[in-house]
Amino acid sequence: MTTWQATALTLFPEMFPGSLGCSLAGRALREGIWSMHTQDLRAHGLGRHRTIDDTPFGGGAGMVMRPDVVSAALDDVVPDGRPVIYPTPRGRTLTQADVRRYAAGPGVVVLCGRYEGVDERVLEARDIEQVSIGDYILSGGEVAALVLLDACVRLLPGVMGSDASAAEESFADGLLEYPLYTKPAQWEGRDVPDVLLSGHHGAIARWRHEMAEAATRQRRPDLWAAHVARAGEDTSRPAGARASADRLN
Ligand code: ADE
Repeated sequence: MTTWQATALTLFPEMFPGSLGCSLAGRALREGIWSMHTQDLRAHGLGRHRTIDDTPFGGGAGMVMRPDVVSAALDDVVPDGRPVIYPTPRGRTLTQADVRRYAAGPGVVVLCGRYEGVDERVLEARDIEQVSIGDYILSGGEVAALVLLDACVRLLPGVMGSDASAAEESFADGLLEYPLYTKPAQWEGRDVPDVLLSGHHGAIARWRHEMAEAATRQRRPDLWAAHVARAGEDTSRPAGARASADRLN
């Protein structure tokens, strides 16, 4: 078995594996399905104070991580063909397709920024992928790195059994999940939708698909537009999305 390797370059090595030491990811880590290493950026800092940052050229608030320090830390990592990823709100949005690509490879190296960010030149020179986990600002890249690693690790063979692939299939359709219900059938005066108690598998599948489409249309117009565009090209697709495609086209 080859081990999927994660390396985080960080000023806070103690933040890893963090939440990934628990639950299924933690068990997989202990079983050697994946490994977690950290590289302390401070160890590559300059001078007596181990300086890793400096003021931005051109002025402005905050500090910028120096390219010479970051490259020295990167040069200490054996990349083994792994992509180097820099989580930043300036990156393209991380998608499930990216996660699938990372999980299918030998692992990832994640450069965790602090302060205002990292000097642009080292990102260019080392061909570093910039990804954002959403349109909000975290205090550093470590939590974003944990999010990215969590999404990858759950896809590794042997981590989640069939659960991961089931959830994957639903998202691969480009729709949000349908709503879920379990026992009790009545709770605080609220009933479970009748169709789910009917035993009619075809009717249940149709209802779930309609609910998935409705949630996507209401909550995620971006995903819905992409889904409708795909359905418009594919006449084997369910009528709901095709009708919407006809209306939009
Ligand atoms: N670092 C700070 N905020 C971030 C975000 N939204 N995504 C990825 N990395 C980040």
